[in-house]
Amino acid sequence: MSDTTISTRVGLRRYTTCGELRREHVGRTVTLKGWVHRRRDHGGLIFLDLRDRYGITQVVANPAHSPDAHATAERVRAEYVLAVTGQVVARPEGTVNPALPTGEIEVIADSIEILNPSKTPPFPIAEETDVDESLRLEYRYLDLRRARLQRNLLLRHRVVRFVRQYLEERDFVEIETPMLIKSTPEGARDYVVPSRIFPGHFYALPQSPQQLKQLLMVAGFDRYYQIARCMRDEDLRADRQPEFTQIDLEMSFVDVEDVIELVEGLYTELFERFATKPLKEKPFPRLTYSEAMLRYGSDKPDLRFGLEIQDVSDVFTATEFGVFKNALAAGGVIRGFAVPGFADATRSQLDHLTETARTFGAKGLVWLALQQEEGRLAARSPVAKFLSERELVSLAERFQAGPGDLLLLVADAEPVTANVLGRLRNQVARERKLIDESIHAFCWVVDPPLFEWNEEEHRWEAMHHPFTSPRDEDIPLLDSDPGRVRAKAYDLVADGYELGTGSIRIHRRDVQNKIFAIMGYDDAEIERRFGHLLRAFEYGAPPHGGMAPGLDRTVMILAGESSLREVIAFPKNQRAQDLMLGAPSPIDERQLRELHLRIVYPEEQESTEE
Ligand code: AMO
Ligand code: AMP
Repeated sequence: MSDTTISTRVGLRRYTTCGELRREHVGRTVTLKGWVHRRRDHGGLIFLDLRDRYGITQVVANPAHSPDAHATAERVRAEYVLAVTGQVVARPEGTVNPALPTGEIEVIADSIEILNPSKTPPFPIAEETDVDESLRLEYRYLDLRRARLQRNLLLRHRVVRFVRQYLEERDFVEIETPMLIKSTPEGARDYVVPSRIFPGHFYALPQSPQQLKQLLMVAGFDRYYQIARCMRDEDLRADRQPEFTQIDLEMSFVDVEDVIELVEGLYTELFERFATKPLKEKPFPRLTYSEAMLRYGSDKPDLRFGLEIQDVSDVFTATEFGVFKNALAAGGVIRGFAVPGFADATRSQLDHLTETARTFGAKGLVWLALQQEEGRLAARSPVAKFLSERELVSLAERFQAGPGDLLLLVADAEPVTANVLGRLRNQVARERKLIDESIHAFCWVVDPPLFEWNEEEHRWEAMHHPFTSPRDEDIPLLDSDPGRVRAKAYDLVADGYELGTGSIRIHRRDVQNKIFAIMGYDDAEIERRFGHLLRAFEYGAPPHGGMAPGLDRTVMILAGESSLREVIAFPKNQRAQDLMLGAPSPIDERQLRELHLRIVYPEEQESTEE
């Protein structure tokens, strides 16, 4: 038999998997089909671990039992696809493998047939060794054979199945929405697709089904969901992919509480069923956006550790310390947090912290190592001489800190201070190992501002998206003080990740017009961008709202991974490339012509501009 034969003696079909044989099958003759996971040649006996999705079974090729099978076993290598026929026997005393579900038995090969040989893989499949990620992505189909990705993708499958069941039990209908649409304003750059029929016209790929799901509410479907693919051309990070999946949902005749209750129920059950760690708190705590920014310096606070931020501006109203005095005079704030037990930080650790704060955008960092001196509270600090004892005592009180603790303070404009301390808080927690890795900590962040001031373009823009409803009691502020209007919006946060966002939408045309006006859109712009949606709202739009938790981030957290690429079958790298397919890639002249496109390369552009 040659290695390339396509006729097989045992046929192509499979009746027994590599994961199902147990002690009660002893005595039976079976044919297993699968990949060679490991091969061990013990001189006389050759052991083959045969693998498929269901498990691993040990095969023994004994020259005394079947010289043919043994001869074939000598030729096979890792990742060959085999058909092995033989008898199931109990493993001899002392060789039972309790780590393997099939560990009580083995199969003594009568015959071994090579269904397909394999080149030597570019990295080992059987070992969970670290492999260069580019290589893993280039040979993704081999990487996907390995235990980690098999585990993660099967988990993802079970999660999706559970989500569907949960939502369908609650009257949600799954409806697909198109991939070739018109640009939706989610804030990122669109991926676009040129039209062959209309020269110079483009479809946009959906950044989310936002407008379409709202139109489904106008259409009366009442409760919609979709495991929705979204595409965004944005700068990538470990928790961002250019293509990702949302558990997208929308409901009619609801208010904030209904959506939160539904999604909290879903995530509580999801994590209780699939996570390996318990939830820290149930029900999930709720923070207003301003509270989250004040206490954690972030709209996605990680509640697995303390290090809470305090505003201590009032302690320094009469300060002699120039940095603080000037910051307060300029309308800024002084905030900080205490790191318990870190007063023994070395000078280089403190310099490193100060440098880190600077890279986060701070002008500097004040550190105070609290100590007891002659029965009184004192501080080791470069600025100790500027601080009165009264100020020091107030600080210690405010941070509930004492000798042995380290205080870190930043003075700056409020948003800068919050952002720097929020990031510093995460960094210190990581470095000092203060994160409780044995739990998952969820929270809701609610009532964010409706608008955000865009300094560059000098205009208000929607913080979530322009269809988000203001809180009823804040509507009067739309005219007088748009920056103070809060939105009926909510974010779900887990372990410091934003898992999902959502809002109650505007269903009244007059309110929507006002929002657009504040954002500085004129009538022509409104018509061009949102005409289709606004027209629909004139035919009886029900009050509605919804949310879109990210599926990839959910599975990433459940799987204990720190990159989305570990839970997506065919992800892109940090430069949005598919290294396996080789995408993006040039297309040929004919395709370009059909699409009425001409490529202008950067050099060409320069030379034509000259
Ligand atoms: P938003 O843009 O906040 O809201 O997205 C919701 C959730 O989608 C996930 N997500 C991502 N996951 C991976 N890679 C990305 N590049 C990426 N971008 C977003 C996150 C995020 O919290 N239509 C609205 C939701 C609504 O109002 O119903 C929306 O898309 O988990
Ligand atoms: P300087 O006056 O710039 O030499 O700073 C004196 C000390 O205050 C140094 O330890 C700086 O790191 C710190 N510092 C400077 N600016 C700030 C600021 N905005 N917030 C907190 N600390 C600061």
